[in-house]
Parts: sequence; structure tokens; C-alpha cells
Amino acid sequence: MPRALTDQTTALNAAQLLPLAQRYPGPFWAYDAQIIQQRIAQLHDFDVVRFAQKACSNIHILRLMRAAGVKVDSVSLGEIERALAAGFQPGGEDIVFTADLFDQPTLARIAELKVPVNAGSVDMLHQLGAVSPGHAVWLRINPGFGHGHSQKTNTGGENSKHGIWHSELPQALAAIEQHGLRLVGLHMHIGSGVDYAHLQQVCDAMVDQVIALGHDLEAISAGGGLSIPYRFGEEAIDTAHYFGLWDAARQRIAAHLGHPVKLEIEPGRFLVAESGVLVSQVRAVKNMGSRHFVLVDAGFSDLMRPSMYGSYHHISLLAGDDRAIDLQNTVDSVVAGPLCESGDVFTQLEGGKVETRALPAAQVGDYLVFHDTGAYGASMSSNYNSRPLIPEVLFEQGQPREIRRAQTIQELLALELG
Ligand code: LLP
Repeated sequence: MPRALTDQTTALNAAQLLPLAQRYPGPFWAYDAQIIQQRIAQLHDFDVVRFAQKACSNIHILRLMRAAGVKVDSVSLGEIERALAAGFQPGGEDIVFTADLFDQPTLARIAELKVPVNAGSVDMLHQLGAVSPGHAVWLRINPGFGHGHSQKTNTGGENSKHGIWHSELPQALAAIEQHGLRLVGLHMHIGSGVDYAHLQQVCDAMVDQVIALGHDLEAISAGGGLSIPYRFGEEAIDTAHYFGLWDAARQRIAAHLGHPVKLEIEPGRFLVAESGVLVSQVRAVKNMGSRHFVLVDAGFSDLMRPSMYGSYHHISLLAGDDRAIDLQNTVDSVVAGPLCESGDVFTQLEGGKVETRALPAAQVGDYLVFHDTGAYGASMSSNYNSRPLIPEVLFEQGQPREIRRAQTIQELLALELG
């Protein structure tokens, strides 16, 4: 089986990736627009699908979202400017800014543009109210519990800095009234990788909080957190079930308030993770005692999730030559990158324990393809070790388009050289 991906679980196939791999001198990201469109369609029951752009904030991906009717969440001034560059309009419901604090430039721009704010602290309400009375706000509630695929992605409970603690709602409401802010809705996001048991708990908490608030609302937001099957055999989320649980909560709230209430959802990962791959080249193969290392030209400066959370990404091999790959005889391999740190390993568990992956024998010049890296891949990259950001390519109707060129070393140095 020459020149095939050894595991065809991504929509992008060897025939699409190999020409790019041969064209680019280093690693690159590739996304398939069709998968993103399919995921958007799966959420059509929600009144508003708001993309948490932190997962993948490339302006061309944002444009694709906008063309499909998706709204956007921004968490920084940079993300607001990206949304505007992609054509989202300020002032209406296109963009919502979600955070636990304002830095000064962001607050000034938000007041100017009238971007609705999803406030994660009472201080935000006072600061916003002082400069922009009448501004539209959401309240992000921390219901007192959370859940995440890793402790670092758990965004609820008292060890999380996120949201307004549920018992501080009266102070939030007082700030809203003091400054004449306009309350649009309540929002909860307790973490990434939420399971159904926690989901029911969040839905119930949302109903309780609306009742406790004692104030009228137009909308509620279910936040994000929908998981995706990173490993073979893991079940994909049942979006109809997910909607059903939230819809039931929405109906209880509508009955309480006496009028219909809009239901928003705010996923990042679900919309983009499975659309993306990271393609890197094998540059060295070596044995260290009992360990077999396959070293590639992408590092945690590109894909940070394994080093940061011990996240699993499926890895498949694309031969760099015409040889037939022996799929039966695998080698237990540690896959690592070029950075000057022992933690620059793609096959590791949370806490840093190095694992091996059974891979077909890889040679220098082959490519390793990291699956499901469309979310929190490119968007979490850094310039560590003075490595420039790598290109991003979007496939639409099977045709590749470079949507971000590689950063140059000159661009890296320019900030210091003036
Ligand atoms: N809404 C809010 C307020 C959030 O904080 C987040 C994620 C989302 C929505 C989207 O969550 P998602 O649907 O993507 O799970 N870097 C980590 C994930 C951190 C997520 C932080 N907040 C990772 O690579 O798994």
C-alpha cells in the first residue's frame, strides 16, 4: 500500500496531503471545510450557534462560519478584530466578548463598538457600566461545579477562576441596575469534554439560577464543551440528545418567564477538531536504550495539546517514497519534536509520562499525520525556540487554498529590530 495514510480516519487523504507535504519545506495544518459544514448542520436545532473561535481563529475559517450563519465568541481584543476582519458586525448579536476581566484597550474598543459582553466578574459590570451605560450583557455563571477532559479545562467549581459565583448573582444584578446595563441572558460553560451526567446537572443549575435571579431574560447559552472521539471506538456525541436536554431546560425557563427564550450553544472543538490535521516530516529515527524514537519537524510550539494536557491524537504514516508500508509489523515508537525540551513528545499521558505508539516502521522522509488537530492546534501555537508559525491550508470542494502563509524568521526578529 504505497503512499497511503496508514489509517484513513480523516476526510483528507494521501492524494490531497502528499503534494502539499512535498511543496512545503516544513510542517503545515490542513482543514477540510466539508467536515466543518457537517458539524454546523448537526447543531441546526439551536437558535444560535456561536463559534468559540479560540479553537481555530483563522479569519478564513471564521468567514466560512459566518457564511453558514454561525455567530462568534471572542475572548480578547485580537479575537474581536479577527471577527470584524471576517465580516462579523459589531453591536448586534454577531460577536459576544466572553472574559473574566477587561484589559484597558479591550474595554475601550468594546465600548466604542458596542460588542455585547458575557461578564465573568462583577468588576467587569462596574467597569463597563462606567464607560458604556445601556451596554448589552450576559452573565456567565459558575454554578459551583465543573468538569473537563483535563483539570486544566475544567471551568467550574471553586478552583476555577471563571464566571460569577452563583451566590453572587444579586451583586451582579445590582451592578446591572446601577449602570442601566441591558441583561440579555445567562451563560454557563463548565468545561471541555462534558459528559451527559454533568450536562443534566448544568441544565438543572441553569433553571435554578434563572429562577433565583428574578429578572427577565431573552436568552440562555449552553456554552461549549461538546467532546469529539479522539480515539478509535470512542462514541461521537449525540447532538439530538444534547439539544433535547437543553431544550427541556429552556422550556422550563420559558414557562417560568412567561415568554419564549432563545437557546444558544458555543462550541469550539466540536465544529473544527475533526476537520484538521497536522502534517510533519520524519527527520530522524533513533534508539535510546529500549525506546525507539521517531523525531519529526513539528513540536509542541506547533501542537501543544499532548504536552499541555497529555492529549491523545491519532497518528498515521504517509510514506515519503513509493515503498509499500508494512501495516502488520508495527514498532512501538515515541514520537517527538525538535524542541530543546524532553517534554516535546506527542505520545505522552497527562503528567508527562512518556508512552509509545505502535506505528509502522517510519523512515526519514516519511510524514506523520496528527489527526483531529483542527481545534486548539494552530490557535495554541507559539514561537518558542524562535520557530516561525507554520502555514494553514483549507480544502474546499477538494481544492486546497493556503489560508495562512508561513511566518518568516525576519518577521519574528522585526519586533526587536524595529
Ligand atoms: N465557551 C467558553 C466560555 C470557553 O471557555 C470555551 C473553552 C468554549 C466555549 C469552547 O469549548 P470547547 O467546545 O472547545 O470545548 N485548549 C483546550 C481547551 C480549552 C478550552 C477553553 N475554553 C484543549 O486543547 O482541549
